[in-house]
Amino acid sequence: MRQKPLIVILALVVLVAAAIGFAVGRKSSHEPRPVAVQATTSPAIASTAEPAPAGDQIDAIRRGAPVNQEIAAPLMARVENADIKRVRAYPMQPPTIPHSIDNYQIDKNSNRCLLCHARANADKFQAPPVSVTHYMDRNDQFLATISPRRYFCNQCHVVQTDAKPLVANNFKDIDSILSEEQDKKAN
Ligand code: HEC
Ligand code: HEC
Repeated sequence: MRQKPLIVILALVVLVAAAIGFAVGRKSSHEPRPVAVQATTSPAIASTAEPAPAGDQIDAIRRGAPVNQEIAAPLMARVENADIKRVRAYPMQPPTIPHSIDNYQIDKNSNRCLLCHARANADKFQAPPVSVTHYMDRNDQFLATISPRRYFCNQCHVVQTDAKPLVANNFKDIDSILSEEQDKKAN
């Protein structure tokens, strides 16, 4: 029981410290922060800052319209239905779909794509069967039926459209890089 006065004094000290801390915090929160003031007034900091993008434009997908303006949406791209395969840009790219897929239902009960693309049906419809990867689970085990993670085909495969690219792109696939190298060596 001799420690009781000590505990009371300690509690008092903590209380007073907390009160002072609270008062100081309130006072400083009313004043503007010195750091922020410096950042807006100091010319040295202003000159190193990145230049603002011209005309409020933030990216090419907005087709040059300022961010505070709404522009008419572009027309929907036309889906090509030409049965012409497009080359893949890189190995393991999901190939684009060379036919239209309007009203092809994919849900819990049926998968229209598999009507033609399942291994069992592919010959009847002359469709390329889905590759073995579509039958593998995440532990690389082969399943008898399509893997659940490959069930929703449109997650990875898209139709081909006549849409123009939204942003500039100078991607070159590995084949054109390799043939360029060979041309250089030949010269
Ligand atoms: C009526 C049968 C049929 C249905 C249904 C069908 N396809 Fe096809 N698919 C084909 C045929 C046939 C081809 C071969 C190219 C062609 O003739 O258009 C093909 C080609 C493809 C290819 C190109 C493969 C490659 O190697 O380039 C992809 C990808 C594809 N289909 C995905 C789909 C997806 C996804 C669905 C469902 C949304 C679907 N298909 C529904 C018949 C079908
Ligand atoms: C998680 C992504 C993904 C999903 C979902 C998916 N695929 Fe694929 N698919 C790919 C990739 C990647 C390739 C190319 C490499 C390969 O064969 O695995 C491919 C290849 C194909 C091919 C070409 C096979 C070949 O031998 O050239 C066809 C046809 C195809 N998929 C159809 C389908 C159909 C139909 C479905 C739905 C039942 C589907 N895919 C679901 C990623 C996917």
